[in-house]
Amino acid sequence: MIIVVDFGSQTTHLITRRIKEYGASAETVIPKKALRTIMLKEPSGIILSGGPASVYEKDSPQIEKEIFDLGIPILGICYGMQLMSKVHGGRVISGKKEYGPAKLSLKSNTKELIAGKALPANFTVWMSHGDEVKKPFKGAKVLGSTDDVPYAFVGDVKNKLYGVQFHPEVEHTQHGDIILKNFLAICGENVSHVPLSIPTIIKDIKKKVGNNYVIGALSGGVDSTVASVLMAQAIGDKFIPIYVDTGLMRYDTDEHIEKIFSHLKVRPITVKVKTEMLKRLKSLTDPEEKRKTIGKLFIDTFDKEAKKLAREGKDIRFLMQGTIYSDVIESRGTKHSANIKSHHNVGGLPKKMNLKLIEPVRQFYKDEVRKLGTMLGLPQEFVMKQPFPGPGYGVRIRGEVTRERLAAEIKADEIVMEELKNAKILDKVFISFPVMTGAFSTAVKGDGRHFGEVVALRIVESTDVMTATWARIPYDVLQKISSRIVNEIPEVSRVVYDISTKPPATMEWE
Ligand code: XMP
Repeated sequence: MIIVVDFGSQTTHLITRRIKEYGASAETVIPKKALRTIMLKEPSGIILSGGPASVYEKDSPQIEKEIFDLGIPILGICYGMQLMSKVHGGRVISGKKEYGPAKLSLKSNTKELIAGKALPANFTVWMSHGDEVKKPFKGAKVLGSTDDVPYAFVGDVKNKLYGVQFHPEVEHTQHGDIILKNFLAICGENVSHVPLSIPTIIKDIKKKVGNNYVIGALSGGVDSTVASVLMAQAIGDKFIPIYVDTGLMRYDTDEHIEKIFSHLKVRPITVKVKTEMLKRLKSLTDPEEKRKTIGKLFIDTFDKEAKKLAREGKDIRFLMQGTIYSDVIESRGTKHSANIKSHHNVGGLPKKMNLKLIEPVRQFYKDEVRKLGTMLGLPQEFVMKQPFPGPGYGVRIRGEVTRERLAAEIKADEIVMEELKNAKILDKVFISFPVMTGAFSTAVKGDGRHFGEVVALRIVESTDVMTATWARIPYDVLQKISSRIVNEIPEVSRVVYDISTKPPATMEWE
């Protein structure tokens, strides 16, 4: 068993999940309880996660130095590695901040480290750190460096203590799986794969909701679709799906909802609140305020529908949501992680909500939810559908959401989707959308000068949602999208392409 000590990284759960995926058991503990849990459970290995703090900051999470004397293999990741250096005979300084990809070169004498599969001499790793190790922990030798980070990968091979400044658990670190699997092999773990279990999820739902009615938040996206099918399988017609049409959902949602419901053979309740939504969003420009306003109307509407159903004699006790794990962590789901943004389906929930929440896919990442969808027999067009944020176009229009800007955003979105589909690129990217940036620039349309809005195109590749790179779209496809948007939408003057990686930039602009 591996103990993962959580210093608050956005990816701690991902580390645990990877370990389980490779066939070992894993448990996450908070730093304060780490030593006691380790003494009690005698794990085969310890992983110290990353985290947003700086090791010398007041109140930053720490670890007792005794854990380095227990003879248990340890892997420190980012903050974890810096802490190993601070506590175990090294030194950390506030260094140059570095986010995104870097090229790691392994030293030729690292063979003894590689307990399992060998690694290539050079590969891309994902960095996200502010501090830097100036002197690694006692006994550690350099195993690999990048141009900017001499101690990117270090190890005390004899005592089985390792440190990586980069994040092996994220998808964009090449061969990160080999590094983690090799560490498991060093711990003496037998690495294999553990499948997801639908019967277990269904059993859990039944246990939680008993004989009660549940209403379900349906958005037409893959998360709520998979969650709905699981609910329907578990409790049949005691599950009542509701689609709140906020007017901010993707343009093809109605059509998709139609197909989903015919697949589920349950009757949907559709509630249209677009006019009320635009009224409540009037004059709002702060992203968090917009998210919360959108979430509030969502929940108010559910509450109202539940009360209506109760008057019909159906006693609704639960509200189902398609929340997935990345939504939870990005809304401060674990003790030490920093709040990135409040996803409306988690952080923005009103405190006095009268319904209890049930979230059947809360523990899973996107790729796992897609796997579940395929296992449930859902059509691939649903399973592979792009994610779409709960607050929808509301967070893709910077500043105030007006009826006119919403119409422009929808038209631009249709053009982007259409052209990527024509070029057979749509399936290959994780997410693609235009952003109404709120910036204005000059164009000459026909014979006249026109001062119109700038649209930014965001097209990224990702599988774990935590990291992403911008997609290398062929120039002629970009050209076609740009020409069509500027020509077909009178309010738009210019189209720019967003070439930011995540981290540091998030996928959405708000
Ligand atoms: P970011 O922008 O955080 O996006 O890099 C990661 C994924 O989450 C989606 N997203 C949201 N989903 N409510 C949601 O349900 C939200 O407020 C929200 N914000 C971002 C985003 O579309 C991407 O898939």
